[in-house]
Amino acid sequence: MEPVIEFEDVVKIYPLKSGDVTALNHISFTVHRGEFISIMGPSGSGKSTLLTLMGCLDKPTAGTIRISSREIGDMTDAELTSLRRDRIGFIFQYFNLFPLLNIIENVSFPQMIKTGAGVDPEKAKKVLRAVKLDERLYTHTPLELSGGQQQRFAIARSPIKDRDILLCDETTGQLD
Ligand SMILES: Nc1ncnc2c1ncn2[C@@H]1O[C@H](COP(=O)(O)OP(=O)(O)OP(=O)(O)O)[C@@H](O)[C@H]1O
Ligand SMILES: [Mg+2]
Repeated sequence: MEPVIEFEDVVKIYPLKSGDVTALNHISFTVHRGEFISIMGPSGSGKSTLLTLMGCLDKPTAGTIRISSREIGDMTDAELTSLRRDRIGFIFQYFNLFPLLNIIENVSFPQMIKTGAGVDPEKAKKVLRAVKLDERLYTHTPLELSGGQQQRFAIARSPIKDRDILLCDETTGQLD
């Protein structure tokens, strides 16, 4: 089986004035192509930290992370950018929506930076309808939505169709 994500003895420490927080303490595992895995643990146990490292949004304090057998510590910023942009879909626990863009613009944004092309509102509307977001909300900004609406919108915004790796952080926590 082809390994897609490999963690080897990974440590993540957040240095804080009040004392270091060890969020990940020597973690090793492998995820293979086609596998669907869940990570469970109490609040503060390091799940989001783990996903952040799997998504190459942050680097470990120690240890090795490989994506498709390439060590991310050896990659340039440009290589990491295209890895995140082209291969990884991330639905964040706290949504990370752009507060100044409306719903349609937020949903179109990942596609815009990938292709450099303008926004096709019809494409965005199609995914928004799939998560059952009412059309009258499309011109709202994220802060004008409820928690559950923001979550559905974050799912719609995540470019997941053509990605090799999907990372979903408590994606249904605010849904009915
Ligand atoms: N940016 C940060 N700076 C400092 N400490 C952090 C940071 N992010 C997380 N932590 C700490 O690291 C630990 C793990 O946090 P993390 O967010 O990964 O937990 P979690 O399992 O996702 O929790 P929850 O279920 O509440 O979302 C916590 O003790 C937290 O306080
Ligand atoms: Mg979390």
